[in-house]
Amino acid sequence: MPNTEPASPRRPPRVVIAGARGRLGRSFCEIALRNHWPIHGWVHHRPTVGSVRPETPPFVGADSVPSADAEGLADLLRGADLYVSAVPGPAERALLPRVAQAGIPAVVAGTGLDDRDTEWIDRIVERIPLVWEPNYSIGIQWLTQCVLRRPLPPGFDRGVVEVHHRGKADRPSGTARILAQSLRSDTTTAEDRGRPSPAPVDVASLRVADVAGVHQVWLTTPEEMIRIEHVVLDRAVFARGMFAAASALWEQNDSTPGRRSLAGLWSARGGIP
Ligand SMILES: NC(=O)c1ccc[n+]([C@@H]2O[C@H](COP(=O)([O-])OP(=O)(O)OC[C@H]3O[C@@H](n4cnc5c(N)ncnc54)[C@H](OP(=O)(O)O)[C@@H]3O)[C@@H](O)[C@H]2O)c1
Repeated sequence: MPNTEPASPRRPPRVVIAGARGRLGRSFCEIALRNHWPIHGWVHHRPTVGSVRPETPPFVGADSVPSADAEGLADLLRGADLYVSAVPGPAERALLPRVAQAGIPAVVAGTGLDDRDTEWIDRIVERIPLVWEPNYSIGIQWLTQCVLRRPLPPGFDRGVVEVHHRGKADRPSGTARILAQSLRSDTTTAEDRGRPSPAPVDVASLRVADVAGVHQVWLTTPEEMIRIEHVVLDRAVFARGMFAAASALWEQNDSTPGRRSLAGLWSARGGIP
């Protein structure tokens, strides 16, 4: 029977982290450690040569934290409270089903999946609480939840431009997809009815240098233009949002399976912090 008791302050969760040697995962671990969350285990991809590598996760030190690859994940999850993952989206195909099998709630960040992945993700959501946001920054949450939901004046054409570092595997970015989706959803007004349907939302991607993330929303008529720009100045913003999601999920203390949104978790705690 699902536990739906009201949340009360709980002990910190024991976390299994995937992608701890990557940029986002490392940043998440640093925040988790500052908040005294015990790292129960970590999932590696590339094998470790010797006991120390140049990019060991921040928690690997005197007390050796167990690690495993996807094959060993079930063992690693024994005794864990939460799975937090910052690996590329496609890597979750081998990881998340094992997490669901173990019945552990999950907070996931990877991007790069497409519509073909919907079916297996739906099966995961039937088994565990899952937060999987393509962008954990507070600014993008506010933009999609509070700004782009408002109907557009008639006659505006819409587009999204995204710029990221050359190493980013997926394009367009998961965030650009969400922004385009928000612009596509019902933004028509009464005056629009009877007018030709608006053109599809155009999305453009650029991969240059080490850009952490730029997203622009273009709204234009032949006479005027609105351009909204979100720029990531510090990648830690994603890790902070992920930590906020993980904390809210843990404090919610509700093991009922289902998809949770960051906005939903925050609104249950009184709104975007
Ligand atoms: N949702 C958001 O807000 C958000 C924000 C930023 C980034 N992201 C996404 O998060 C993902 C990671 O980004 P990043 O910048 O941290 O990348 P990164 O620095 O390249 O790190 C990737 C990490 O994933 C691990 N990994 C790769 N393939 C794996 C596999 N098959 N199985 C297990 N682990 C695997 C790597 O492990 P090893 O070290 O063992 O090789 C590495 O630790 C990307 O998809 C990115 O687009 C999402």
